[in-house]
Amino acid sequence: MDGVNWDKPVSKDQQGTNTPYLLPYTDEVKAATDHLYERVKHVVTPMEWPQKAALIHAINTLKKEKNAVILAHNYMTADIFHTVGDLMGDSLALARMAAESDADVIVQAGVHFMAETAKCLAPEKTVLIPDMEAGCSLASSITGEDVRRIKQAYPGIPVATYVNTSADVKAECDICCTSSNAVQVVESLGSDTVILLPDQYLAKNVAAQTDVKILTWAGSCEVHEQFTAEDVQDLRDAHPGVVIITHPESPLDVVQAADFAGSTAAMADWARKSGAKKAVLLTECSMSDNVAVDVPEIQFIRPCNLCPHMKKITLENIYDALRFNQHEVDVDAAVIEGARASVQAMLDLPKPTVPASFDPAAQEKPVDLVHV
Ligand code: 13P
Ligand code: SF4
Repeated sequence: MDGVNWDKPVSKDQQGTNTPYLLPYTDEVKAATDHLYERVKHVVTPMEWPQKAALIHAINTLKKEKNAVILAHNYMTADIFHTVGDLMGDSLALARMAAESDADVIVQAGVHFMAETAKCLAPEKTVLIPDMEAGCSLASSITGEDVRRIKQAYPGIPVATYVNTSADVKAECDICCTSSNAVQVVESLGSDTVILLPDQYLAKNVAAQTDVKILTWAGSCEVHEQFTAEDVQDLRDAHPGVVIITHPESPLDVVQAADFAGSTAAMADWARKSGAKKAVLLTECSMSDNVAVDVPEIQFIRPCNLCPHMKKITLENIYDALRFNQHEVDVDAAVIEGARASVQAMLDLPKPTVPASFDPAAQEKPVDLVHV
């Protein structure tokens, strides 16, 4: 194979196009990655592994050279999550890790709002996202200008925003929250009414868990809004004894029909401790693979929805991100200040000992949309 250029040809406009790399699977690569294959062998076939292994080894080598870390969200595919991720978790954990990391470079294996949050918490670091198009239907449902109009229309009512929003939106809000702490955040504001933006389903789920009156926005997660209470019943009928674990970005009746609901970290934690033989993680498709690596004794039934944004991140474009320092996420200094204050207000709340969950028995309460 002498003379073959195994590194893909790259011109400036080819960078980040996900063209497969054909890096050689050498003895060195094999020795450096065999232990990683042990972790992912149930979800990556032996046929796929040599090509992935060469790329994984190249990424892990570049990370050391550049003092870079990869923050990997629970929805990354298992080949990313378990082999090149340094810090893994839900949105709250990733925000905390970005704030605490001493790396020079953060590569966000997740979506754009997560990279922006990392930049706001660590403005001195280079924050890279492997694909600038990795967005989020919730983040794109609302702008900073929308929040300014809401504040004018509802003066004196505190505004909390879900972390799945742009830095512009965060900068306009009093505090940020994630699905790990939304009820705690809402109750921390000392108000009998709180505006919780922009996820109408999270808002409904939070309202059911608190006496605080919630107003919200008509945003939704395109992955979780698709699940229905009928899906849950059909799964119970088809798989007697199955444990059903849901996310609070789903409609309230889905959460009420399930055995558990919480953030992705809470879902994984509960699955691990449940002792279940059969379980459904009613969420993005990669979650079951990632949790199954740690708890192979659970048989996961896998109805799921792919998040097209999360799936934009690949081993190929992570390698490109590190090779070419792309795509750098920058946030305007004035926006950083406001967004950071809103995220920091959340991080300053007492850290729960176990990830917060949503009680499926909680009853529906009225939630109104804000009118602007
Ligand atoms: P968490 O990981 O915080 O539960 O968020 C889920 C999600 O949809 C992220 O985009
Ligand atoms: Fe956004 Fe939903 Fe995708 Fe998460 S899963 S990034 S909330 S669209």
